[in-house]
Amino acid sequence: MRDVKTLGLLGTGVIGGGWAARALHFGINVVAADVNPAMEQWIRDAVANAEPALARLTLAPLPPKGALSFTTDLHAMARQVDFIQENIPEKLELKQRILADVSRTAPADVIIASSTSGLMPSDLQQSMVAPERFLVAHPFNPVYLLPLVELVGGKQTTRDTIEAARRFFTYIGMHALHVRREVPGHLTDRLQEALWREILHMVNDGVATTGELDDSIIYGPGLRWAAMGTNLIYHLAGGETGMRHMLHQFGPALKWPWTKLEAPELTESLIDKMVEGTQEQAAGRSIRELERLRDDYLVAIQQVLRQFNIGAGSTLRALEQRLYASQSASAQAQASKAAGTLPPLSGCVRPEWIDYNGHMTDSRYQQVFGDALDALYRQVGVDEAYRAGGSMFYTVENHNTFHAELKVNEPFFIRTRILSVDAKRLRVFHALHRGRDQALAATGEQMHVHVDLPNGKASPIKGPIHRQLEHLCRAQAGEPLPPQAGRAIGQARG
Ligand SMILES: NC(=O)c1ccc[n+]([C@@H]2O[C@H](COP(=O)([O-])OP(=O)(O)OC[C@H]3O[C@@H](n4cnc5c(N)ncnc54)[C@H](O)[C@@H]3O)[C@@H](O)[C@H]2O)c1
Repeated sequence: MRDVKTLGLLGTGVIGGGWAARALHFGINVVAADVNPAMEQWIRDAVANAEPALARLTLAPLPPKGALSFTTDLHAMARQVDFIQENIPEKLELKQRILADVSRTAPADVIIASSTSGLMPSDLQQSMVAPERFLVAHPFNPVYLLPLVELVGGKQTTRDTIEAARRFFTYIGMHALHVRREVPGHLTDRLQEALWREILHMVNDGVATTGELDDSIIYGPGLRWAAMGTNLIYHLAGGETGMRHMLHQFGPALKWPWTKLEAPELTESLIDKMVEGTQEQAAGRSIRELERLRDDYLVAIQQVLRQFNIGAGSTLRALEQRLYASQSASAQAQASKAAGTLPPLSGCVRPEWIDYNGHMTDSRYQQVFGDALDALYRQVGVDEAYRAGGSMFYTVENHNTFHAELKVNEPFFIRTRILSVDAKRLRVFHALHRGRDQALAATGEQMHVHVDLPNGKASPIKGPIHRQLEHLCRAQAGEPLPPQAGRAIGQARG
């Protein structure tokens, strides 16, 4: 199966738009295809709307954004992409027809996946060319922030297809859950539907409003569900004997049962109650406003979970490790080409880095100087293993000067110098230049102290690292001291 550089989307509604935003953000090009030409503007707006929340998800160094193009010609899309994700309406015959059609154009090593919420992969792949490269890859809305994707193979799907799909989805920051047996609704929608059916019953019977039922989740079980599912939570609730005790105690209630299992009739009156209830909950806020609120808390929750390395937080952690490792690999590759010197770190100003003046905002200079420092550290061997060994550098002083503006999408490069290194301290100077005219845009000077992590005290830099830092420092010693080095705030520029 192919290494995925370009993703093709078949159908660009709510879910297609979400896939586009996620893939582009992590550096994959997207060719979006939809029968409705009006969807071009729609998908561009959807990508722009997703960006503010996505941009805050991680500060780890991202590759340059992917490029988005749109076509109404499904075959033109199928000819030029490495992986196709289908997101057209949930109708079996329509999906079967379009998937078969597209499979005649897409080369046999291009995986074709369907976002279907509940249709079975064996039914969908029936008339396809090379059906072994087809699977269901069921995401969750908003696709750009929720990491879960359920992977379900049909009777003709090969293990290689599932594995290649898993690699691709992991690369774009997702948690691929392999559903080992195809069932209608896969895993999650089957569970969600059971809950929703009970909600409809209780609203229908006048037991509770939509708002009260949502409260019954968000103040209680919902908080637990973000990191531990129902099973582990019930295991905890059973005390020392765990799940065994829970089943013993509540087993009889499962037989009564409390729940109704069959869906109620969707009468006009029930539909009205559901619509009026949710409108009251929205309290005049538009769907866009509510989406922004949802996106903000989804980002915040994942960042909290990352600290605990649990659930979606461990997916985010793994993604960040991969991003740092790939930055480190490219820094090391550059370094080995220019042995004994510090190669410049290049980057591009991402749209979310821009402030209200239309220029790169101050905090992002700090971030890219941090990236340059990271590249230096990794080049000399200060990495995760070094930190795990109980040592690291801490920043103790910082000084920036600004000289020229950087605009959106501008390429830039950073030259880093080691001004001095002694037993415990490292003084570093970064000069950030604009790519288009080489103009100096900003400088950053930093003092770092080597720290013994277990006792939090300054400690000598370990021998091999110290020797490499000294070597790099000596290699640059012939260059004149930059005029910004050691400047005090407010000192005339001279
Ligand atoms: N909305 C959700 O929360 C959600 C979540 C997970 C999975 N899904 C699944 O994703 C799929 C898409 O759902 P959605 O909510 O994005 O629907 P949607 O109605 O928002 O988008 C469907 C898009 O498909 C396009 N389309 C229709 N026929 C087409 C064709 N022949 N060729 C190309 N494009 C065509 C439409 O123009 C539209 O833009 C469904 O299978 C759904 O079950 C939806």
